[in-house]
Amino acid sequence: MSENPIGLFADMMGRNVKVALDLLPSAFSGFVMHEGKKHFSNMHSGHSIQYNWMYDNFGNPEFINLYKKAKKGQWDSDDLPWDTNVDPENMEVQIFPEKLQPMYGQDFYEKLSQKEKAKMLHSTISWLLSNFLHGEQGALYAAAMTVEATPWLGAKYYGSTQVMDEARHVEVFQKYLDTKLNKLYTVNDNLFVILHALTTSSDWDIKFLGMQIMIEGLALGAFGMIYKYTKEPLLRELLKNVISDEARHVHYGVEALRDFYTKEVPDYKRREREDWAYEVSKLLRDRFLFTEFYEEHFQHKLSRSAWIQMVLDSEIMGEFRRLLFSRLIPNLKAIGLLSDRIRPKYEELGLLRFEGGKSADKLSLNELLAA
Ligand SMILES: [Fe+2]
Ligand SMILES: [Fe+2]
Repeated sequence: MSENPIGLFADMMGRNVKVALDLLPSAFSGFVMHEGKKHFSNMHSGHSIQYNWMYDNFGNPEFINLYKKAKKGQWDSDDLPWDTNVDPENMEVQIFPEKLQPMYGQDFYEKLSQKEKAKMLHSTISWLLSNFLHGEQGALYAAAMTVEATPWLGAKYYGSTQVMDEARHVEVFQKYLDTKLNKLYTVNDNLFVILHALTTSSDWDIKFLGMQIMIEGLALGAFGMIYKYTKEPLLRELLKNVISDEARHVHYGVEALRDFYTKEVPDYKRREREDWAYEVSKLLRDRFLFTEFYEEHFQHKLSRSAWIQMVLDSEIMGEFRRLLFSRLIPNLKAIGLLSDRIRPKYEELGLLRFEGGKSADKLSLNELLAA
């Protein structure tokens, strides 16, 4: 795998010119201009807003079922136990397991003092939750855009509840980082590129595919992983509530895209989306590498390429990939983007073993929390 973004895109060009060209403006903004490191980003979406003056196209009946569920499933962020005392540097009650940090066991890590190790733990959880927060901000805008851009009234009703859910997610992660961790990292470049690509796309289905299926599939896996390992009661409660909302969101994405890709779009378009999903899967798999954390703490101690290799080989990344793809692959299959044409590519990555899993529309909350 190439270590730098230019090489990454050269690799992608070799495999799939169309997807590489589609993603190029986003890659330029993220990897070259480092737009995500600035205070603000302005992005322009070219989607159209669909009105229906006859109110006669509600789409898949499952949208209204999800809408009813979402109305009943609303929770108040003020009810979380915010008075919990959180000490992110307490090594006795670890907010995240020390041994799951990518650098655990390495010589340069073992030589650190207990105090320095406690700081590392604080930074690790802050980096993870900062990127959750940035992903939630993207989800808030993506949800709002899909309300405008989908043709179905049922999807617009349901989507409005997702806008509320995502605002609440931004609120709780921001509040946790601000009041409990006092530390915020800028958005990871790779996450920025994917958010930029789906935000600026004029195709509504790319917004769904990028957000509801790919990023939210990833988020469900990552939230489940932290929920499983953290002993911190406020964070556990917060994540449990967020996961219950996210399960609806991914279910919605599956319902919205299944008929569209399998019945409505011409096959060449479906193939394009299949390639897009594959390339974004690879970006998500290989590129979520704690680089901002590395730049803060270890840049002077080891090379970037050594860091990247270490993270890729670490236990946490293995666990992360397992969770990500055990959620993602069944969903791609459910929406018709795992045809015989693309299967060998996923097979090469060792990912087809997940295809027998349940898609998001079939998973219970307990199954999601069990990670
Ligand atoms: Fe969310
Ligand atoms: Fe969501």
